[in-house]
Amino acid sequence: MAARATKRSAQYGAAFVSAILPGATIGILGGGQLGRMTAMAARSSGYRVQVLDPDRSCPASFVVDSCFTASFDDAHAAADLARGSDVVTLEIEQISLASLEEAARHAPVRPEAAVLKIVQDRIRQKSWLQSSGFPIGEWSPAASAQELGAAVQRFARDCFIKSRSGGYDGRSQIRVQPSSASASADELWKALGSRPCVVELALPLEQEISVLVARRPGSEAVVYPPALNHHEEQASDLALQISQQLQIVGLLVIEMFLLKDGRLLVNELAPRPHNSYHASERACVTSQFEQAVRAICDLPLGDASLIKPAAISNLLGDVWLGHHPPAFDRALAIPGVRLHLYEKSVPRPGRKMGHLSAIGDTAQEAVHRVLKARAAL
Ligand SMILES: Nc1ncnc2c1ncn2[C@@H]1O[C@H](COP(=O)(O)OP(=O)(O)OP(=O)(O)O)[C@@H](O)[C@H]1O
Ligand SMILES: [Mg+2]
Repeated sequence: MAARATKRSAQYGAAFVSAILPGATIGILGGGQLGRMTAMAARSSGYRVQVLDPDRSCPASFVVDSCFTASFDDAHAAADLARGSDVVTLEIEQISLASLEEAARHAPVRPEAAVLKIVQDRIRQKSWLQSSGFPIGEWSPAASAQELGAAVQRFARDCFIKSRSGGYDGRSQIRVQPSSASASADELWKALGSRPCVVELALPLEQEISVLVARRPGSEAVVYPPALNHHEEQASDLALQISQQLQIVGLLVIEMFLLKDGRLLVNELAPRPHNSYHASERACVTSQFEQAVRAICDLPLGDASLIKPAAISNLLGDVWLGHHPPAFDRALAIPGVRLHLYEKSVPRPGRKMGHLSAIGDTAQEAVHRVLKARAAL
């Protein structure tokens, strides 16, 4: 458990100085790879870092000052983390609201519980997006197997059924055809844990776009350039509007669908660093992790513009499960390639163990290099 750090957020005379300056302690709820890389950026700028995670050997544990081993619904542990921190942030959505609220009694929690309350629950999130006037696809909540079957019949086209909470990396969701749904509504309902879910019309996608926005208290915001040119401006505007409406402090990734008819719809929100912006560490003036630190510490946000094209390739546990240890030496012989490992001890199929990144003179060159490095393993 943590030694209690002295709080350093400065209060000079009567005037409250809101910037949380280096030397202060950042508490992170969640010690996975996103927490680890945020912690590394924070340390680079001279912050102390402590994390809370159920796994005592979580990826962040190797790079932080202290680690609280507790579950994400342990509000007492969250309060302990916050008591020794000047600001608290998170790297995963699945933190209980009670933990966030308890932590907020001791230190600012950024993003705050009100944002997480909306984002954690697909029904609440979609209702919020809709009532705030943001474009989303057709959907229907379903609170029983019958409602689920009826919604699929009503849409009469392919649908995605997603559990209301707790899904990530495409888990907790099933694609169904209307012809098979009425017979198997009960099975589908059971397969998703017999819990409320949402039924979404499957949309004809041209492209998927994720836009990252960083926002600090007082509403300064910076949006990262999305990879897709045409719709860049529209996607950036939409992302800024959503972050403003949410009043979020920290990072927000907006996953969007560009449809074949040119419409841009919001898929879902993630109030944290995101796998699709790992390349920002190599490509941008300010990485998403440094930006997260600046935003939550109320420091001027960094420039998000591109320095050099970069690409990444996730390294899943499958790579370790072959006959040989991964040949990282061969991968690193390719120019511009860097290895990022998360220090997860047990490789499992589908588990994100690390990633490779590559820079190049063009986006194509970066992609080519990273794929070549991946193939060399
Ligand atoms: N309504 C839809 N129409 C078409 N494709 C969809 C739809 N919903 C989801 N998908 C596809 O499934 C993917 C995962 O969906 P979603 O982002 O909702 O789930 P998730 O569990 O949060 O996954 P992740 O953690 O990868 O974001 C999307 O990126 C998209 O490719
Ligand atoms: Mg998603």
